[in-house]
Amino acid sequence: MSSLSYRAASEVSAERGNDTPLEIRKFLKDKSILITGATGFLGKILVEKILRVQPDIKQLYLLVQPRGGLSPEQRVQSQILDIELFEVLRSKLGKEFEQFTKKKITVVGGNVRLPDLGISSGQAGAITPDLDCIMHLAANTRFDERFDVSLRDNTLGSASMMEFAKTCPKLKLFLHVSTAYVNAHKKGSIIEKPFKMGQTMAEILARETDESRLSDGEIPRLDINFEKELAENARDSGYNIDKEMVELGRRRAKLFGWQNVYTFTKAMGGMLLFENRGHIPLAIVRPSSVLCSYKEPFPGWVEGFKLYDPIAYPFGLGQFPGFPMLENSVLDMVPVDMVVNTILAVVTKHYGREQQDTFVYHSSSGSMNPLFGKDYGEAVYKHFKAYPMMDNNGNDILVERFRCFEDADEFKRSVRSRLLSAALVRLRSSKGSNSDTDKVRQQEYAKNAENLRRQICQDEQETFGYSVYGVDWINFLAEVHLPGLRRHVLKKHRIQGLKQEHSQTPSRL
Ligand SMILES: NC(=O)c1ccc[n+]([C@@H]2O[C@H](COP(=O)([O-])OP(=O)(O)OC[C@H]3O[C@@H](n4cnc5c(N)ncnc54)[C@H](OP(=O)(O)O)[C@@H]3O)[C@@H](O)[C@H]2O)c1
Repeated sequence: MSSLSYRAASEVSAERGNDTPLEIRKFLKDKSILITGATGFLGKILVEKILRVQPDIKQLYLLVQPRGGLSPEQRVQSQILDIELFEVLRSKLGKEFEQFTKKKITVVGGNVRLPDLGISSGQAGAITPDLDCIMHLAANTRFDERFDVSLRDNTLGSASMMEFAKTCPKLKLFLHVSTAYVNAHKKGSIIEKPFKMGQTMAEILARETDESRLSDGEIPRLDINFEKELAENARDSGYNIDKEMVELGRRRAKLFGWQNVYTFTKAMGGMLLFENRGHIPLAIVRPSSVLCSYKEPFPGWVEGFKLYDPIAYPFGLGQFPGFPMLENSVLDMVPVDMVVNTILAVVTKHYGREQQDTFVYHSSSGSMNPLFGKDYGEAVYKHFKAYPMMDNNGNDILVERFRCFEDADEFKRSVRSRLLSAALVRLRSSKGSNSDTDKVRQQEYAKNAENLRRQICQDEQETFGYSVYGVDWINFLAEVHLPGLRRHVLKKHRIQGLKQEHSQTPSRL
């Protein structure tokens, strides 16, 4: 770090003091921010929120790749600005909407996998001098991705983003969105700390349970360069390469103690960011499982299936009576708009600060207001009882109370279709669940984000707060999340059994 930027960072820090109330709107004013992953679930709602609450943002640069025959610009228009999520902002601005978004958004064609992020040198030269902050959300979120692909997107892609950050002369923060599940099967209290280079979950878990495994040399050391070579070499061999690369990712993740290739490559991405950050202040937000919006811009907005959603819909169709989970297992979930508010509080806090001890934040609910397996089951039952799906004859499908199965074999026998049973069991293991249901996977994420929330200034608590204490999970899932899923996801895919009127069920708290 140059002495100049050190001075600037410490001046800002001294000005604010540690407990100075966070003023998020003021922070956003006149800032130029590069966002990756803007076409994703979280990214869209982040872009919407910033534009809605701070029209005086200077510029949002959105790094987007071309896809499906659409240019990055066309994707931003059709997959971000034209969707229902933006209706609130659209009606607020009226005729000004097009002009406003045109002025505030610059689309940057690029892909974190490519050399120089695939950004043309002309465009890179134009944006780097202007950037104040990078929010890196882009990720390959597939749990069963090929090893080489996941590694390039989540690990090496993050490192390339940091290299890019270093070419931005006035950049004062790199915000990385990771996932709370980089902590894999760790139970109990989970410290909000970055991974050190080469640290593995296998090692962390062995330290807790059986230290002798460490001294016996049973736990392999992780070397990211070796993983990269392994993936590259494997890519050049084999005839059923897709399948083999998926299997390689699964094996390497498991070897080092992670549940799947996604959390493994995300964890390695975090290591490279921490190791290579140089003078750039780094902050990391790790959400647990993200649900639909709680409140903003309206309740119930969601995209794609979330965590246990794939079981809710066939349950509503009467295809099975429950799921293998313990009644008292904690399903850690958090609404998407609360994650976005956490991100905004974290960037406001860390912008321009020298690296602090506290810079990893779990955005989660389990240690504050846990959602238990039995509550999830109750919510799903309550929802489909009130808003049933229909059978081929147009009749309501009646559901029985949701059962949490302690015995996975008993569950399998209860599913009508063997194919569905196999798919559900696969789903359960891909989410990293324990194979035997007698273990309660209880995680208590520490509370950095909770302490930070209290630092948001009083005037902005309503707009930027993210307290999960008040969330009535059963009501939220039954009356907001599942209706949101039916309206925004199932209807889009013309899912069987969906009644017109029920696909319009209001989201209400
Ligand atoms: N949703 C959750 O439950 C959850 C939970 C914990 C953490 N997170 C983290 O939150 C972040 C956002 O998640 P999400 O749910 O919004 O994911 P998502 O819906 O799958 O979106 C992923 C985004 O990343 C972009 N992306 C992927 N590979 C890329 C590449 N090579 N170059 C450029 N962009 C690329 C995608 O662009 P395309 O549209 O072009 O593919 C998309 O915009 C991720 O970092 C994820 O790990 C999410």
